[in-house]
Amino acid sequence: MGVHILSTGSSVPNFSVENKQFEDMIETSDYWILTRTGIKKRHLAPSSTSLTKLAAEAANNALSAANLKPTDINLIILATSTPDDLFGSASQLQAEIGATASVAFDITAACSGFIVALVTAAQFIQTGSYDNILVVGADTMSRWINWSDRTTCILFGDGAGAVVVGQSLKNSILGFKLCTDGQLNSHLQLMNTPKNNQKFGFIDIPHGNYNSITMNGKEVYKFAVFQVPMVIRQCLDNLNISIDEVDWFILHQANTRILEAIASRLSIPFSKMITNLEHYGNTSAASIPLALDEAIKSNKIKPGQTIVLSGFGAGLTWGAIVLKW
Ligand code: COA
Repeated sequence: MGVHILSTGSSVPNFSVENKQFEDMIETSDYWILTRTGIKKRHLAPSSTSLTKLAAEAANNALSAANLKPTDINLIILATSTPDDLFGSASQLQAEIGATASVAFDITAACSGFIVALVTAAQFIQTGSYDNILVVGADTMSRWINWSDRTTCILFGDGAGAVVVGQSLKNSILGFKLCTDGQLNSHLQLMNTPKNNQKFGFIDIPHGNYNSITMNGKEVYKFAVFQVPMVIRQCLDNLNISIDEVDWFILHQANTRILEAIASRLSIPFSKMITNLEHYGNTSAASIPLALDEAIKSNKIKPGQTIVLSGFGAGLTWGAIVLKW
């Protein structure tokens, strides 16, 4: 059974913050942020906008683009590291859009989340278990940032992107490769730091409490620039597709310098990299489907073209998917 991407959709909060606005808050400058990261602004969700609401907007956009009703969906996979509910927000998303015939679950793989979720959806389609799957990547990283930490707060933004995947004789997903290196976990974390221990008999039971994001920027940079070109090459080699045959590369939108370094290591022109991070910053699991949706809407991507998607981030995790559009 072929796995076909039927449609895309996305959503970002209305409120956005320009680099200049950080200058009053922390010791930084528009120039530093732009030249080191490529980011000009990011969208932030106010308290009235839940992760579920953002994800639902992106999902509804993708459903209308596919001419499907929410009840046509059999499975929802929500990639997020910032759910409204620690038990998972996919079921909240199911209720929000009225996809009453679906089963729903979350996947947590940080900025690689959408790649892992899309690969997971493809397995369920290939086995014939489900017909129409909604895959959403959504994150509200702004809620987990220490806004006085200049090394992280300037990087992230909030958003959601979605695709509907269905069965078809036409196969969109040619191949994939997923990787994890838990030894490097400490380079990028959002740790549970239990406090307020309560005594239960002889033992202390800590009460769950999450800290803000912590990152070793230099190590994450080195990791991305080394591993991402390698996983892309391995994935293409397995399919006997040369790098020159790829029309577009849609990578996790973390930093323009990372994307430039990867383009250089792959010996591809930077013009083949789809980028939108100047407008959104790093939106974690949302960044790839958001960039994909924009590239579809602006008619950059044409039927029959070959596209590489690649995500990387906390875990550390990384991976690539080769698509035929
Ligand atoms: N404004 C101004 N100065 C800043 C700053 C900011 N927002 N953040 C850090 N600096 C300072 C540092 O404190 C350091 O000062 P020092 O030389 O006095 O110690 C200086 O700028 C250089 O810092 P450095 O960490 O070497 O900068 P860099 O060129 O490595 O860029 C990142 C920092 C975070 C932009 C870069 O490492 C990066 O993008 N890493 C990958 C992060 C990422 O994408 N994470 C998510 C992956 S999913």
